[in-house]
Amino acid sequence: MTLLTVDNLGITFGGLVALDSLSFTVPKGQITAIIGPNGAGKTTLFNIITGFYQAQTGTITLHRDAGPLVLNGKPDYWIARHAGIARTFQTSRLFPRMTALENLLVAQHNRLMKASFFSLAGLAGLAGFKKAERDAIDKARFWLEQVGLTGSANVPVGSLAYGLQRRLEIARSMCADPALLCLDEPAAGLNPKESLELVDLLALIRSRFGATQLLVEHDMSVVMGLSDKVVVLEYGRKIAEGAPQQIRHDPAVIRAYLGEPPDEDIPVDIAQDLDKC
Ligand SMILES: Nc1ncnc2c1ncn2[C@@H]1O[C@H](COP(=O)(O)OP(=O)(O)O)[C@@H](O)[C@H]1O
Ligand SMILES: [Mg+2]
Repeated sequence: MTLLTVDNLGITFGGLVALDSLSFTVPKGQITAIIGPNGAGKTTLFNIITGFYQAQTGTITLHRDAGPLVLNGKPDYWIARHAGIARTFQTSRLFPRMTALENLLVAQHNRLMKASFFSLAGLAGLAGFKKAERDAIDKARFWLEQVGLTGSANVPVGSLAYGLQRRLEIARSMCADPALLCLDEPAAGLNPKESLELVDLLALIRSRFGATQLLVEHDMSVVMGLSDKVVVLEYGRKIAEGAPQQIRHDPAVIRAYLGEPPDEDIPVDIAQDLDKC
């Protein structure tokens, strides 16, 4: 089953074609990786899917049980709220002076505001708001536990180790119960042990919570170890799409990363070479 269809997507910045007639599908409940050299258009794709940028051509459709939802033209807050698409950023967007728990409560702000009738019921201490508040705290504690941060619930985020902050960002996105989780280079800056722990966490989010994930990642051990499907971009165009095992030996992919045609006599494994780029 397909959760998201990207069809003929295009965007230019001035004269620069950042995405060119890009089409692919994201299967439900699976992890689809988007890879490609720097400047290939990966973050731009995320920015369009999540409503930060508007595409000049093409359509993005979310297939829900209630029927298809076209995302084009919708602003970011609408997509987060109504389409249930959450994202993490290439650089942290946590609130450093707030505690880990508080950051996860802020992520549920919309739900709490709704329960408070935009503050009247909250001020009056009505039962419905109290329950929503308790639920939000329970959910925050649940996700802190899933990412191994229970002991840091009351620690200001700015004083947490970098790897823990990245896990907290994933917890924050999951507090929104997203239909689609978009992760922009979640392994960037992690050491090898933290990368392995990240792979376990994202695999758990897939297996236990059935969350569909779109993963932009440079670390090929993460991509190859996790993805059900890989889409490869170069200069805004799709140059390959398939299972990780197909992609890692694809000549066009190897050329895009290494800048030269592979020598036919020497078997090339892209997974070993990509991290050098
Ligand atoms: N807001 C913008 N204005 C101008 N150019 C942009 C903007 N966003 C991205 N680009 C350009 O689009 C291309 C793709 O960028 P990006 O999507 O960030 O690549 P990637 O994430 O694959 O490294 C790059 O050449 C980048 O400079
Ligand atoms: Mg990027």
